[in-house]
Amino acid sequence: MDPIDKPKNILNSPELLQYILKTSAYPNEHEQLKELRLATVDKYPHLYTMNVPSDEAQLLSIMLKLMNAKNTLEIGVFTGYSALSTALALPDDGKLLAIDMNREAYEVGLPFIKKAGVEHKIEFVEGTALPILNDLLNNGKEGTFDFAFVDADKKNSKNYHEALLKLVKVGGAIAYDNTLWFGSVAYPDDVKFFEDGDQENESFRECVRKETKELNSFLASDSRVESALISIGDGVTLCRRKH
Ligand SMILES: C[S@@+](CC[C@H](N)C(=O)[O-])C[C@H]1O[C@@H](n2cnc3c(N)ncnc32)[C@H](O)[C@@H]1O
Repeated sequence: MDPIDKPKNILNSPELLQYILKTSAYPNEHEQLKELRLATVDKYPHLYTMNVPSDEAQLLSIMLKLMNAKNTLEIGVFTGYSALSTALALPDDGKLLAIDMNREAYEVGLPFIKKAGVEHKIEFVEGTALPILNDLLNNGKEGTFDFAFVDADKKNSKNYHEALLKLVKVGGAIAYDNTLWFGSVAYPDDVKFFEDGDQENESFRECVRKETKELNSFLASDSRVESALISIGDGVTLCRRKH
């Protein structure tokens, strides 16, 4: 299956999405990112849309370069598409602390990370993110990160935000993925959005929808950050730490 046929993307026009990917994103995609993306489709035919889409990865990559980011952190690595994209954007002595509670999926992407020559920039840490962030804070890492990307465990987003606002330096950035959650956040709470016949999946997605709406309102009113909710991919909210 062509992976762009079944995107997790808020653009309601599949033609427009294909246009963006084929005209802009895929021609500029690093060869090893493409290989990793296709290997993920093969290995995880039902989960590959967990990888960030190429256009979003490119936006974040440009931003990292504009910021001269050197020390970064990621929560939610999966097979490593966003991790590889980040590592490619960092200088040779740059670092990405990549946190995920499951190393197995990362192993699928690792050969491509190695082939891209950026393995030395990534430190993969296996475990649940919150205690790892707390360990970093207890070990003097406050204010040491330029950028953090959060792409996991939506119920803890506000907890991550509190820890990351300490770990990321003033002027640094935090990005939250999936903040438009399939476009569902635009609808009133009493309107059911997800109806695919799979009760468990529907209730999980409705639950994340509620959490995402809460996060979006919270971030928009948090005076410690400037934020922008960007309609790319499944929505990404970019926050800059002000003080
Ligand atoms: C959407 S995927 C990340 C995709 C990745 N950013 C990419 O572009 O390929 C979410 C990942 O978060 C991980 N995860 C879920 N809950 C977690 C937690 N509490 N702590 C650390 N990782 C977690 C899952 O194992 C999964 O691999």
